[in-house]
Formats: sequence, structure tokens, C-alpha cells
Amino acid sequence: MLDDQFEHLRDVLLAFKKGKRVKVLVVGSGGREHAMVWKLAHSPRQPRLFCAPGNAGIESLATCVPIKADDVAGLKAFAQREGIDLTVVGPEAPLALGIADEFRKSKLKIFGPTRHAARLEASKRFSKEIMAKAGIPTARAKAFDQPAEALAYVEHHDVPVVIKADGLAQGKGVLIAQTREEARRAIVDSMEKAVFGDAGKHVLIEQYLQGEELTIMAFTDGRTVAPMLPAQDHKRIGDGDTGLNTGGMGAYCPAPLGTLGMRAQVTRDILQPIVDVMSRLGSPFQGVLYAGLMIVHEVPYVLEFNARMGDPETQVVLPLLKTDLLDVLEAVVEHRLDQVPVEWHDGHAVCVVMSSAGYPGPYDVGEPIRGLDSLDPQSATVFHAGTARRGADIVTAGGRVLGITGRGATLADAQAAAYRTAKQIAIKGCHYPHDIAYRALAPRG
Ligand code: AMP
Ligand code: GLY
Repeated sequence: MLDDQFEHLRDVLLAFKKGKRVKVLVVGSGGREHAMVWKLAHSPRQPRLFCAPGNAGIESLATCVPIKADDVAGLKAFAQREGIDLTVVGPEAPLALGIADEFRKSKLKIFGPTRHAARLEASKRFSKEIMAKAGIPTARAKAFDQPAEALAYVEHHDVPVVIKADGLAQGKGVLIAQTREEARRAIVDSMEKAVFGDAGKHVLIEQYLQGEELTIMAFTDGRTVAPMLPAQDHKRIGDGDTGLNTGGMGAYCPAPLGTLGMRAQVTRDILQPIVDVMSRLGSPFQGVLYAGLMIVHEVPYVLEFNARMGDPETQVVLPLLKTDLLDVLEAVVEHRLDQVPVEWHDGHAVCVVMSSAGYPGPYDVGEPIRGLDSLDPQSATVFHAGTARRGADIVTAGGRVLGITGRGATLADAQAAAYRTAKQIAIKGCHYPHDIAYRALAPRG
């Protein structure tokens, strides 16, 4: 521990003497990565920022390098060639491919869990096993390898029932079946028709929980857990949380459901036990642990763990982080998170995601995005997700195009700031929900 601290101080002093700026590479290309790069750009230490592959918004803050987020060998070669001091991984795919293991083998510093630890997200079955070992409240579930057994089991299960693909299915592998017929179809689609590829070969059949959802993420170095402010995302495409599931259409922070007491409870009863069990099993988890919770009668149940920051939760949580993100990330990587108090600003943040016409179904790309140049930067922050540069224009390049984060002393102020800015941006056919944060602004009795 003292050695770690000493080494860090020595590195900082040496870098300072040499006038050297730390080089940081962020891996990914979405709104989450734009928010990470933006926050790092606010560091008083003025790191030199790189992003692979990045997007048209990230470009203004970092040098974007055209290496895909899942090209582990390419990223490693770049980090070595460029002398990157710290790599920060945004999305889950490179973690599941073992990017952290590869980098550490080559003595490259990287923020993110090993492939084995990332199974907390990459395998729902593994995640359930760990939760059972750590005694963590979660929905009852049973795992199946054989479709016939899954089909037989579901005949005697109450409905609604939740059918989950075991592996990574880009957020699409969960179906809440209202009837047994729907459940049967989901099992056949996943296990026999392989609609999620290998990710759905095994399924979990899970008890349906009714409550309100909450996200609590935490930084952890494998021992110390520093929880972030609680957030809530809006997963459905339409107003009032209706319509198809998406990657996330907006978020707000702090979510009032995550009271100080709830945060303490989640840290004590969920996050810390998971981190401790992973360490005991010889697979310490280092990076961000994301707990997707269902709060049922004030008791938090885990719906899922992610092994990385949430998108769009990051776009509302990081703007409220007071401590220098670079200091926090380094403390995690160097196993001295207990030395860095992680502090937060007062106030609120609301992010509204603007999506391409048709999303989450098929959508076109290449639509010009108008109005970005004339925005008042004081009013809200525009995080790019699916954008690209075409000549002088910035055009759409994905389903989720922009995330507009407003901040304010109250949640209502933050919401107004986000929508004021969203209205000034024009993308043909674009959609966004009009009621992000409604649950917190108009609590139902
Ligand atoms: P997951 O990827 O496991 O978080 O599931 C995606 C979404 O499905 C969650 O955000 C919930 O809205 C819903 N969900 C998952 N599991 C359950 C459950 N056991 N009961 C009710 N809703 C669930
Ligand atoms: N917003 C949910 C996720 O990042 O998985």
C-alpha cells in the first residue's frame, strides 16, 4: 500500500518535473465515451487525450484513432507505440474479450476488469452464482442448457416471467413474457433459432419483480468501493416508459429513490460483498461495477451487473463528479482508491437522448445534424453518440445520435435546460422522449 502510494507520488513528481502530460486513451465511440473524454478534458492536470475510435463530438477534445473498440491487438499496439499512460475502457465487448488481461500482461495500465471478472456482466448465470455466494438479494432464477427442459419448466411458472439470454446480446436478450405462449416463443427463439447467436444458447428463467429501477455504479480497485450518485435511466423508446426497449433514451441524477440510506445499504449489502467475493475467488474486480436494481418495498434486488459505466447514466453522473476523474481512475488502477475521497457536486443533471427515425428498429444514417454551432455552451452539454463528420457537416451514424445533458440547482431546472437545447437541434425524423425524469418530478402517490 505505502509502496503504491510512494510510486504514484514519485511518478507524478517526475512527470511534473519533466513537464510531461499524462496520455490517456479512452476506448469506445458512444455518448458514454464522449462524457468520459469531456470529464477528463476538465482535469487540471490537462492530460493528452486519445479515443479509439471516437466520434464527431469526441474529436474536438481528443485525438481520435481509427481502431475499433474490439480490436484488442490493435489497441494494444497503439498504446505501446504512443506511450499511453492509462487506457480506460468504455464498452463491455473489449472487456469480455480480455483487453484488460492483454494490457496488464504487457505492463500497460488499464482501467477495467479482467475477462474473468467481466463475466459478472458477460454471463448472467455466472453473475447469479456469484450473487448466491455473496448472499445478495436478486430475482430467483434457474439456468437451462436444453430447450426441452426450459420449455417444461416454464409450463409451471407464474406469469409474467422473465426469459434472459445468458450472454451479451446488446441489451436485447431480456424478454418479460406476459403469457406462457410468449415465454415458449422466447425460449425457442433464443435456444433453437439462435436469434442472439451464441449469447442465447443458454437461458435463465427468472422470477418477475415489480418495483422501481435504480442504477448505482461504483468505482472499485478490487478492495475499496466508492459508490457514485444514484441514477435512473429510461429504457423504453416512448413517453411514460412505453414502447420498445432501447439502449437507453435518457437518464437523470441523483434519482431520489437512491436516498443516502439506500446508497449505504446498496454499498454495504451488494457492492462491497460482490467485490469481496470476487477477490476471495482470486478474480478481483477493478473498474466500474454497475448494479442495475429493482427496488421492491424499499429492498434493493439486483437485476443485473454490468462491468463498466452505463450509457446514458454516465452522461448524468460524471458531470456531477467533483473530484478529478483522472485521479480517481489512477487510484483504481494503482489499488489505492482508499486514499482518494470521491466527492460530488450539489445539483442535478438530466440527459435526453435524440435518436434516428426508426430506432430501435432499422434506421438510416447520414442525416445532417443542424443547429450544433449556434448552441449556448452554458445551457447544456451535447454528448455525441452515433455521429460522424462528412465534409463540413456532422451527420448521424447510429441509432442513438446525441445525448443532451442539462444541469441545474433543481431537477426541473436541469430538465428544462436539456429540453431547451434539444429543441434547437434539428435532425430529420429524429425522436426523443419528452418526459425524462418524470418519475422524480411527479411522484405517484
Ligand atoms: P437486464 O439486462 O437483466 O437488466 O434486463 C433489462 C431490463 O429488463 C431491466 O432493466 C428491467 O427493466 C427488466 N427486467 C430484467 N429482469 C427483470 C425481473 N426479474 N423482473 C422485472 N423486470 C426485469
Ligand atoms: N443504461 C443501461 C446500460 O448501460 O446497460
